Amino acid sequence: MADVATPLAGTELDHELERMLAIERFDPPDGFREKALVSDPAVYERAERDPEGWWAEQARALDWAEPWTQVLDWENAPFAKWFVGGRLNACANCLDRHVEAGLGDRVAYHWYGEEGEQRDISYAELLAETKRLANALLDRGIKAGDVVGIYLPMIPEVIVAMLACARIGAPHNVVFGGFSPEAVRERMEFSEARALITVDAARRKGKTAAIKPAVDEVVGGLEHLETVVVVRHTGEQVPMQDGRDVWYDEIVAAADPECPAEPFDAEHPLYVLYTSGSTAKPKGILHTTGGYLTGVACTHRLVFDLDADHDVYWCAADVGWVTGHSYIVYGPLANATTSVMYEGAPDYPGKDVWWSLVERYGVTVLYTAPTAIRACMKWGAEEPNKHDLSSLRLLGTVGEPINPKAWLWYHRVVGGGRCPIVDTWWQTETGHIMITPLPGIVPTKPGSATRPFPGISADVVNADGEPIDEGTGLLVLRRPWPGMLRTLYRDDERFKEVYWSRFGERTYLVGDAARKDEDGYFWILGRIDDVINVSAHRLSTAEVESAIVSHERVAEAAVVGQPDELTGQAIVAFVTLVGGGDGDDALREDIRGHVAARIGKIARPKRIIWADDLPKTRSGKIMRRLLRDVAEGRELGDVTTLRDPVVMAEISEKVAAGEEEE
Ligand code: WT7
Repeated sequence: MADVATPLAGTELDHELERMLAIERFDPPDGFREKALVSDPAVYERAERDPEGWWAEQARALDWAEPWTQVLDWENAPFAKWFVGGRLNACANCLDRHVEAGLGDRVAYHWYGEEGEQRDISYAELLAETKRLANALLDRGIKAGDVVGIYLPMIPEVIVAMLACARIGAPHNVVFGGFSPEAVRERMEFSEARALITVDAARRKGKTAAIKPAVDEVVGGLEHLETVVVVRHTGEQVPMQDGRDVWYDEIVAAADPECPAEPFDAEHPLYVLYTSGSTAKPKGILHTTGGYLTGVACTHRLVFDLDADHDVYWCAADVGWVTGHSYIVYGPLANATTSVMYEGAPDYPGKDVWWSLVERYGVTVLYTAPTAIRACMKWGAEEPNKHDLSSLRLLGTVGEPINPKAWLWYHRVVGGGRCPIVDTWWQTETGHIMITPLPGIVPTKPGSATRPFPGISADVVNADGEPIDEGTGLLVLRRPWPGMLRTLYRDDERFKEVYWSRFGERTYLVGDAARKDEDGYFWILGRIDDVINVSAHRLSTAEVESAIVSHERVAEAAVVGQPDELTGQAIVAFVTLVGGGDGDDALREDIRGHVAARIGKIARPKRIIWADDLPKTRSGKIMRRLLRDVAEGRELGDVTTLRDPVVMAEISEKVAAGEEEE
């Protein structure tokens, strides 16, 4: 085991971090490069010279039932086709081929439950259960192309559910367990899901929350939803509707254990995942099979320097987000990885639960979000210091910009100063990691995602689309990549307009601002659209506004993000009440609860500021820029374009008085 730096805490640690703030560049640690999967920087030139050849080489790591005849078809840009003519089964690539290669006994997931239950699930077990569930879905009339919703907590069945869908070519539509049943209904409706796999109840920090009855209340009217499969998790009594509802364990036990994995076209839809955009209606990001699997498998292997025979990998995200899809499920399984999967919250039953799991399973690679690191910082280095973390050799972050202080803390306290950190930039849309260091060869700078992954072409451009060599601008992607979204589900027009219109149909507009420094390193600065990033979760201001406005006492609402030490950004809502006047704290709580019910708890505004009117231009557009100024305590920007400048003066006064603080 590697040497471990002396654990530090309190003021000693503060001094050390202060000192480290002066370090601009961290080279791959001694010994890491020599053993790394990628140890030769020539990989970048190789991919740049012949990107399609590079991706084809990556794709050959998968099992194809039928080879492709063309790597990329970009004729009909922005609609891409990868590995044209190729056929494969995603589930077979994640499970069957490993079992056939003799790895059936390898643990796929060390699952750890909230109350300390442990389940080690081998590749053979995962395959057996997946086949049965796949058959059970077929028995219920689900066929290739039918959408299946999944609304489950972090339990092994969620993996089985996703893989069973992939096996039969039924695109899954997973809804994050923290979203409300209302959000589930909406997503099932938009995708015309024919089945929904959910749970009796979920556990959170020692409490049980009924899920199935809450789902029942909202899905009743969905005309396409014919089957609801219920996983028995807590054993809660829940009502079952005859003809529609079935128990997961019963249908799995009754199903035929044999289920051949039929190959599908490389462009067969693998899943839809809804994410927030600039309008209130979430966007259904569509990912397909061959390119996506190629992209997630190769980035997972190379970015995390994966040695599947020895590593114990843990992506501490929720499967309900794209991070979970790509780096808990498809990437790791395609690479025959042993992963850790944890059901609960990072502070239950104690604030050291993560570190106890790192020690228990000997985790070597840990992947999480900056917001989680900042929470751990707040809880103090004493928590990780209680445990032996010397198995860790590589750390990753994703989801939002990481502030250098958190980066250094992660590096020093969690990584013992010996683990490279891969800050990985990507999006639900991109499917897989796009800008990231390769840990054996790319020196890191705290706060920078460094450079594009081999084969990826990223640029920072000015408002006219001209590349900026050094400086700040808009992030764009120049060339198609295998895991790219293929469209917005059933909305080709919106797909073209949102991503491929600003600079033409061959340049992908990311929606992030970025800076390129003198070494060509990318620093992602944040969103340029009306999307807020709360604890690395993406929310649309319009979506939150429409939830607030649906409250009976609310006339109008405007939502902005403000910087937050813990969550990156926090939601601030300016609310006008029906009939005017101010509300009280009870009403604030009520509105927050209302938003939680409509979207989910993460969408609750941190601050609610009552306003008699909202600042609008003469054409009636709300000027969020001014509201952001107020929320952040800045000097007000230009108010001359406002219809009524007095409105802003009143709001500023109120905020200055601070009467809305929680
Ligand atoms: C947005 C995408 C990618 C999985 C999780 C989020 C922000 C993501 C980073 C990073 C700075 C980041 C961007 C991006 N973002 N990773 N390493 N550094 N910002 O996926 O919900 O689709 O959100 O998250 O703003 O556009 P998502």
